[in-house]
Amino acid sequence: MADLSVTVNGLKMPNPFVIGSGPPGTNANVIAKAFDEGWGGVIAKTISLDASKVINVAPRYARLRADESREIYGWQNIELISDRDFDTWLDEFRMLKEKYPDRILIASIMEEYNKDAWVEIVERTQETGVDAFELNFSCPHGLPERKMGAAMGQDPEMLEEVCGWVNGAAKIPVWAKMTPNVTHIETPARAALRAGCEGIAAINTILCVMGVDLETLRPEPTVEGYTVPGGYSCKAVRPIALRMVMELGTMMFGGGSGKPISDNGEMPVKGEYPDRSLSAIGGAETGGDAAQFILLGANTVQVCTGVMKHGYKLVKKLNEELEAFMDKHGFSTVEEFRGHSLRYFTTHAELVRRQAEVKSKERAEREGVVTKDAAWEGEKFVEQSERLSRN
Ligand SMILES: Cc1cc2nc3c(=O)[nH]c(=O)nc-3n(C[C@H](O)[C@H](O)[C@H](O)COP(=O)(O)O)c2cc1C
Repeated sequence: MADLSVTVNGLKMPNPFVIGSGPPGTNANVIAKAFDEGWGGVIAKTISLDASKVINVAPRYARLRADESREIYGWQNIELISDRDFDTWLDEFRMLKEKYPDRILIASIMEEYNKDAWVEIVERTQETGVDAFELNFSCPHGLPERKMGAAMGQDPEMLEEVCGWVNGAAKIPVWAKMTPNVTHIETPARAALRAGCEGIAAINTILCVMGVDLETLRPEPTVEGYTVPGGYSCKAVRPIALRMVMELGTMMFGGGSGKPISDNGEMPVKGEYPDRSLSAIGGAETGGDAAQFILLGANTVQVCTGVMKHGYKLVKKLNEELEAFMDKHGFSTVEEFRGHSLRYFTTHAELVRRQAEVKSKERAEREGVVTKDAAWEGEKFVEQSERLSRN
């Protein structure tokens, strides 16, 4: 039977499923519930030294549903970091570590661009016995105005300096959580790794506007008639998260991206940080989703919106589905297949070369597949599009 347990930066977890920072880790009560249900670890809601500056609004979520099934697949939030007092959080971290000494509790922290503040939040928080830090360089709304969150994550120089301050003070592993609202996510990730962070977490939410109400003509979520762009999460972001995890996995551990693949299975791109860790986040709701992130290099998989939709019991289903995937392929540990699929990314020129070797033009035409743009026909347009699709 497959063994789901993982050890990441020395942290032992019964499974790779971690609660992502947000409402599902927002106080000791719900964190205890997550541990009781069997989550591998919990990343608490992001905290800062001075919670009095954090003022939330309501409503602060807007959701996108499928037309017929009404299933929620997109979720926007304009929620800020925790509005709970820093000292209360320290008490709760202490209490949780006493009650669950062998469970992994990670503090998510965020501060302004000020060395003393970062050193203070690191030193005071780690005294409670938390197992690791996640640095929130990625919240896309509300906090960038104070040069916090994504504003810091979009500035690799500042990010490297701040990670240096944190790593100078931290005695426990540090993960840097990346914003997807950048062109090349490897650039800020490299800055964090250069500064000594043990791991990268990605992605946070994608900056979005959920929609405009066609009755009131007001954008959603409407707060007293007005709104701000927010952060997009849930199933709809998974393909973007997979792409970014692939880019980070290739950079850190090696892979095929950007170079022709050799047939002897050797990775053409050498990993720059093979001993660091990668925590994948973004739209994971099934064991199969998690398996895909692990195949692209992830050591752990975080779930935030999925818990808001399905509750804490979701972890049982995640475990069963991941175990079934591993049994089917004969993988006995997560490490056995981690990063396996990175080798199958290559250049477009290489795809053309490989296809030319195996597929003649005549065969493609026989199958009715469009090979030249002149072959598109108005009457058959949808059918032709379908024939070019993989599923
Ligand atoms: C309502 C809400 C609040 C969030 N708050 C935080 C936060 O305080 N700190 C943080 O690092 N990420 C926060 N996130 C981002 C999530 O941790 C996660 O990166 C993102 O939602 C994508 O994963 P998901 O699709 O599993 O939710 C929040 C997400 C949501 C939906």
